[in-house]
Amino acid sequence: MFAVYAAKPNPEAPLDALVVGERPEPEVPEGWVSVHPTAASLNMHDLWTLRGVGLKPEQYPMILGSDAAGTLADGTPVVVYPIVGDPAWAGDETLDPKRTLLTEKHQGTFADQVIVPAHNVIPLPAGFSPVAASVLGTAWLTAYRMLFTKSGLRPGQTMLVQGASGGVSTALIQLGRAAGMTVWVTGRSEEKRNLAEKLGAHATFESGARLPGKVDAVFESVGEATWKHSMRAVRPGGAIICCGSTSGPNPGADLQRLFFLQIRVEGSTMGTRQELVDLLAFVAAAGIQPQIGQEIPMDRAQEAFAAMQNGDTAGKIVLTAK
Ligand SMILES: NC(=O)c1ccc[n+]([C@@H]2O[C@H](COP(=O)([O-])OP(=O)(O)OC[C@H]3O[C@@H](n4cnc5c(N)ncnc54)[C@H](OP(=O)(O)O)[C@@H]3O)[C@@H](O)[C@H]2O)c1
Repeated sequence: MFAVYAAKPNPEAPLDALVVGERPEPEVPEGWVSVHPTAASLNMHDLWTLRGVGLKPEQYPMILGSDAAGTLADGTPVVVYPIVGDPAWAGDETLDPKRTLLTEKHQGTFADQVIVPAHNVIPLPAGFSPVAASVLGTAWLTAYRMLFTKSGLRPGQTMLVQGASGGVSTALIQLGRAAGMTVWVTGRSEEKRNLAEKLGAHATFESGARLPGKVDAVFESVGEATWKHSMRAVRPGGAIICCGSTSGPNPGADLQRLFFLQIRVEGSTMGTRQELVDLLAFVAAAGIQPQIGQEIPMDRAQEAFAAMQNGDTAGKIVLTAK
């Protein structure tokens, strides 16, 4: 079948490991289902997979993509929940030590078919286009959990989002605005800051800029390049919620500020299946149109990956079925 996959790990030139080609037809185990993805969105995680992060060399080739919306064999439209856990695990799926994201153990969504446990498909509520739904399972789900489960923010409080145009950042801006937060955003260019304002940010700033006041919570996915600014931006007793470290994982902790100002630093990863169901309902009820920066046919995946690698983002990048 048609598939976009990582042939082998390539830390220095990840795009050289990307192949648009053919992979064997998959088998569907008992209790699993086959989904035909009509739209599937790109995540930074796919670039890490091309680099060899998180997989052993013998696990390649690996079909890329953790997000998709598509149809079951009977035509039912669904969105894919991308965490596959231990069937014996009960409770929060993100805490299951045996959990994997699609592309870590099981093949991903950038293909004619993706095979997942039946529990991992959620019927698409009426009114969702496959393209809009295809961005929700990873970046938007991560943003939803950071904001609504982890941050403790109440409507009316002020949040700072580090990064303006990325998948997680744009989701945080749109969700935060819809939920009644005051949304501040840093962005690396005027174009990216303008996008954040279009999506609902109340104020935007250059990366690292002095802010007019302290914020109740900072949302971090950037890491080394913004961490010191995040520590200075948060009010005493406020929180930094961190889901990623795009620019580097060792930012220097600034422990004196951490304990003296009683800053709460909380890690956040993906979300539960129920949080994805709730996210779908919130997006529908609030009338949010998730920001899609580019829609590119799946057989031109190389362009999509190059845009993400170059930081050329304006919201999510979506691959559509060829
Ligand atoms: N833990 C989880 O479950 C989870 C889930 C999803 C993503 N993540 C992680 O979160 C991170 C973001 O993912 P994504 O899919 O949103 O990526 P993305 O779409 O490529 O966005 C990257 C973002 O990072 C910002 N950025 C990158 N380098 C920067 C720098 N040097 N200085 C300031 N800002 C910088 C960009 O800001 P500008 O807009 O200003 O360019 C942009 O907003 C990745 O590290 C990813 O692995 C984790």
